[in-house]
Amino acid sequence: MMRLNKYLALCGLGSRRKSEVYIQSGSVAVNGNVVQSLSQVIDETNDIVTVKGQPIHLPDKLVYLLLNKPKGYVTSAHDELRRKTVMHLIPDDYRLFSVGRLDKDTKGALLLTNDGALAFRLMHPRFQIDKIYHVTLNMPITIKHIQKLMSGIMLDDGITHQCDVKVIGKDYRTIEMTLHEGRKRQVRRMLQALGYQVTDLVRTQFAVLTINNLKPGEWRFLTNQEIAQLKSLAPGKT
Ligand code: URA
Repeated sequence: MMRLNKYLALCGLGSRRKSEVYIQSGSVAVNGNVVQSLSQVIDETNDIVTVKGQPIHLPDKLVYLLLNKPKGYVTSAHDELRRKTVMHLIPDDYRLFSVGRLDKDTKGALLLTNDGALAFRLMHPRFQIDKIYHVTLNMPITIKHIQKLMSGIMLDDGITHQCDVKVIGKDYRTIEMTLHEGRKRQVRRMLQALGYQVTDLVRTQFAVLTINNLKPGEWRFLTNQEIAQLKSLAPGKT
């Protein structure tokens, strides 16, 4: 359901204000009945909307955006516990969903799109899309444990695949992990299995997309080049 003026604007009739002028002038009909109320709400999937007798439709526009997710937001579209969701941070003009998830307390790169086919492929284990995490630990990590992380850790859903680990901080409390798979809470669980606690977790990169130049809570549309790169990393029919 959405307001008629918003629907007209999304169909390309101009701003919401301009759409209101069409409504007030009696040019807009919903299911054959002229509507002049600005508060009219429509069912965009079933109602037939005409402007000056011509049916109009929502464009099949595919939208791709990258959000630098801040801490404290859940990734799901609706949260039963009414917690803040990432959907509050992005435009609500498109029905976007996230490609994979980040925990409530994880920050960083989150791709949102309405391109279901590409989203499905990017999440599919077959394509092994790289995800790079900057991980801060409660205590210094040992070389032996770094080697274990890289070669595979037994978790309750099976052994993790080979991954890359680099030490960033001189104190051995910050590391960069590059995972080629994406299981639930994977970074936290891998480190927990070795006796560490993750005190801060940031996904700095998802596939080719980095959060450089985006402050927490900020988002941007992908460039055409980035969309093409994602499609070549996870090729498919659409
Ligand atoms: N690994 C985690 O533990 N949490 C995330 O949000 C992402 C990867």
